[in-house]
Amino acid sequence: MSATGKIIRTNEDIRNDFPLIARSGYAYLDNAATSQKPASVIEAESSFYTDHNANPMRGFYPLSLDATAIYEDARKSVASFIGAASSDEIVFTRNATESINLVAYSWGLNNIKAGDEIAVSIAEHHSNMLPWQMVAKATGATLRYIECDTDGTFTDEELMRTINNRTKLVAFGHVSNVLGRCNPVRKIIDMAHSAGALVLIDASQSIPHMKIDVMDLGADFLAFSGHKLLAPMGIGVLYGRRSLLDDMPPFLMGGEMIESVRRDGAKYAEVPHKFEAGTVNAAGAAALAEAIRYISDIGYEYITNRDRELTIRALEALKRTDHVHILGSIDNEDHNGIISFTIDNVHPHDISEILAGDKVCIRAGHHCAQPLLEHIKTPSCARASIMFYNNEDDIDRFTESVANIRSRLGWE
Ligand code: ALA
Repeated sequence: MSATGKIIRTNEDIRNDFPLIARSGYAYLDNAATSQKPASVIEAESSFYTDHNANPMRGFYPLSLDATAIYEDARKSVASFIGAASSDEIVFTRNATESINLVAYSWGLNNIKAGDEIAVSIAEHHSNMLPWQMVAKATGATLRYIECDTDGTFTDEELMRTINNRTKLVAFGHVSNVLGRCNPVRKIIDMAHSAGALVLIDASQSIPHMKIDVMDLGADFLAFSGHKLLAPMGIGVLYGRRSLLDDMPPFLMGGEMIESVRRDGAKYAEVPHKFEAGTVNAAGAAALAEAIRYISDIGYEYITNRDRELTIRALEALKRTDHVHILGSIDNEDHNGIISFTIDNVHPHDISEILAGDKVCIRAGHHCAQPLLEHIKTPSCARASIMFYNNEDDIDRFTESVANIRSRLGWE
């Protein structure tokens, strides 16, 4: 127990909250692809179906009202977690990809025209690039790529070159899923707003590791997936400023997004329901609310410290290993739990497969960021990504396995 009365939990206690981590023996270092789920989150999802299952917002019997309350309470949890002005600014989607597509189809196609510009960072995940390629093609707008240096830095000169008074939207990832660098999104948002542009932030890789406050950032739109934040797959979030969401047409048409329907048209529901056509993922939303409760209980201070300790341990070991090349910054502090690397004469897919034989799980390939990899002249790489439930043993198994790969393949 701490001086404040809070029970201090060890890393071992935390690992025991995650059934797959506690039982599998895996060194799970693919957290940027998806996080593991604590038992309480799995229980929250299953308890929705066991104890509360009915279609939210459809029925007037207690079970349906209960399901509606659980779903709307989850929305309030998300709003308060990210500092939104109101829960009406939170739209539940399937994932960050759907959130960004919603903005592209609903806001982009209706507000961007030929002659306008869309500025997208070259480091974006395909999910925050392809929708803007689509909007540019459909409207005749120009898509401008904001280029980074090989260490992932976006210089002020480059930002000023690409963001100007023709720019209508800037799309930027908060933390790169390949290089791990945290981008100066607040500065970028200020620059974009001064030029009269809106900003969409992809927070998928940042929100599991650092506190997000949308009002403090000044973001117009912000997207993330639940599954990287300890929640189940299939639930995601779009935050949008109320005034923007109010003016946007629906993205998908169907049940529960209307006030009334006649033969010749429909009056749509208010935000956020106008964007949530069809039966919603209430169990996923309930589990996301529990994931938020769990993360808030652990606290971002613990998470950030643990990310830093484990990232430094891994990077220092890899830097001592011959033939290993780290992508991005040489500064450990710039990696935020993400370490992408190559090994001379070993294909990243082979790295991943050989590590799998040692029960070490990492990702290999282009990480859905092909333009970035092309830009930094690395067609493919291996990536280890850390969460607060990892431990020193996971890191040592990973770095020892990497150190032995070349000799196992007969290179030395
Ligand atoms: N976007 C996820 C990743 O970077 C899937 O692995």
